[in-house]
Amino acid sequence: MAVKRVLITGASKGIGREVAKYLAAQAHYQVIGTGRNVDRIRDKIEGVRYVNLDLCNESSIYACIKEVGDIDVLINNAGMAQIGSVEEVSMDKLKQIFEANFFGSVRLMKALGKEMRLRRDGHIINITSLVDKISVPYLSGYTASKTALAGFTQAYRMELMEFGVKVCTISPADVKTEMRADLILPENSVYEKKVLKMEAGMYKNMEAAPGPIIIAKLIEKILKTKKPKPVYNVGNMVGPIMFLKRTLSDKALEKLLKMIYGI
Ligand SMILES: NC(=O)c1ccc[n+]([C@@H]2O[C@H](COP(=O)([O-])OP(=O)(O)OC[C@H]3O[C@@H](n4cnc5c(N)ncnc54)[C@H](OP(=O)(O)O)[C@@H]3O)[C@@H](O)[C@H]2O)c1
Repeated sequence: MAVKRVLITGASKGIGREVAKYLAAQAHYQVIGTGRNVDRIRDKIEGVRYVNLDLCNESSIYACIKEVGDIDVLINNAGMAQIGSVEEVSMDKLKQIFEANFFGSVRLMKALGKEMRLRRDGHIINITSLVDKISVPYLSGYTASKTALAGFTQAYRMELMEFGVKVCTISPADVKTEMRADLILPENSVYEKKVLKMEAGMYKNMEAAPGPIIIAKLIEKILKTKKPKPVYNVGNMVGPIMFLKRTLSDKALEKLLKMIYGI
């Protein structure tokens, strides 16, 4: 089996780390993982090459692209979250989350996807979130940036299809990681109670969720599949959630979501 060069963003911890570890353990993958400051990664995985990448910094992205060279598999995993009300999250903060969760990945896709098209081979896997199907209050920037990435991925998939490049989205529900959202909550905020409830609910759900190995195994399965699906919904309670999304009206779904988070 030919060796595939995999670039996975955000491999310093959480899902990205687990995917890097899982693929690096197999002889036919050469894994390059990124972090914003790879010198600070304490528990590096043997066999993984680490490269600095800050998705909010254009020159860091282009330096990373230059450094990694040809890539067969691009996994856009790195991401950040913010919790706060629309009124209280500044435009700068919203732009930051779009750089990290959307534009940064787009820059990588434009550069590395073109090379894949020329070689008529390659995989691009973008990790969004189930919020790309169900909007979540106080996570508006996160919801919007992940929804943008999901839409972009679907369109790009169809553009690259005829060139043999396979593009798909993994849309996870909760996964147990240490991911923590940037809490944006000014003093005396009228939204304080609900934002904090939402934050606590989110971490409680993550704590009860399966670990990131489910994403690693799914990625391996996708890489071995001749015709990957456009979207893979995965993670805690994803079956019932998708069933409710299909069967409930938007209004009923909204009520249910507010009830679940007690907001
Ligand atoms: N965990 C969940 O429940 C869940 C659910 C749905 C979707 N997701 C998505 O899955 C992905 C991974 O989540 P996770 O739970 O593994 O999160 P995590 O443990 O917080 O890891 C996030 C990774 O992204 C990197 N990162 C963050 N901001 C970055 C930036 N501006 N530029 C470059 N790298 C950056 C971090 O690297 P450094 O901090 O080392 O730079 C880290 O390696 C994210 O896109 C997340 O939205 C997670």
